Amino acid sequence: MNIENTLNRAVKMLNKFNIKNPKLDSEILLSKAISKDRRYIILNSHEKINKKILFDFNNLIERRKKGEPIAYITNNKEFWNDSFYVDKNVLIPRPDTELIIDQVLTIFQKNKQLQLLDIGVGSGCILLSLLKERPNFFGTGIDISKKSINISKYNAKILQLTNRVKFYNSDVDNFKIGKYDLIVSNPPYIESVNLKYLERDVINFEPKLALSGGFDGFSKIRKVINKAAYLIKRNGKLILEIGFSQTEKVRKILKENGFYTNKVLKDYEKKDRCVVSTKI
Ligand SMILES: C[S@@+](CC[C@H](N)C(=O)[O-])C[C@H]1O[C@@H](n2cnc3c(N)ncnc32)[C@H](O)[C@@H]1O
Repeated sequence: MNIENTLNRAVKMLNKFNIKNPKLDSEILLSKAISKDRRYIILNSHEKINKKILFDFNNLIERRKKGEPIAYITNNKEFWNDSFYVDKNVLIPRPDTELIIDQVLTIFQKNKQLQLLDIGVGSGCILLSLLKERPNFFGTGIDISKKSINISKYNAKILQLTNRVKFYNSDVDNFKIGKYDLIVSNPPYIESVNLKYLERDVINFEPKLALSGGFDGFSKIRKVINKAAYLIKRNGKLILEIGFSQTEKVRKILKENGFYTNKVLKDYEKKDRCVVSTKI
């Protein structure tokens, strides 16, 4: 078997199981099995594949066939300017979440020095991307999941940011340490009844703890805003990712907690996704 036949067979298999991007996924997984990049796969389509690589590749395709996300199979996801280690214990970073990074960089200039808190840090994608962009930011990340904190720590080490970041395994309700100039959070915000409508790659594989916003979708957002009101300095910024239908209620909760809503930003589908607010 050469690269081309192997890929064609895998694409057919993934198609049969209704996987959305069978060609791209097969190329990525073969790159992983061969330990070369996708360019190599495309440029060397007549190269023969040995039995060991074929065996490893077939195992990867088996996992993808069952819906396991590519990012979990390859243990890698690109976010902003970096690659992050991910596995089934953390949410896979989403492109929409880059809106938070974009806003922070717009608001705070390159040399600004400040204390930053990320509530529900997950893989560390938001916090660590911001620390990389802003050399005088000092960061704290908290998460209720111990496994997610371990992954954030690992990503901080890979990105050489350990000297400017601290992590705590804590429920937001119990966290009391520090006063912050900037708080960011992408809390779980999906209503529990709607979890079953998520794509099977998401609901069957990503942690429920990272997705479920409780009965009305607001239980975690409310906790984050209530706690942020105590942990933030006066005039500090709170930047949140939200569900597209949650804007009005989030504005209300922010107001009740002494925050002024500066702006609401839309995602790639032109739906409300990110709220920038200031503590008054
Ligand atoms: C939607 S994920 C966001 C992860 C990451 N910040 C990102 O944007 O990809 C929400 C995170 O909040 C954490 N979380 C859920 N409930 C929490 C709580 N009560 N206190 C602290 N963290 C919580 C979850 O474990 C998960 O890592």
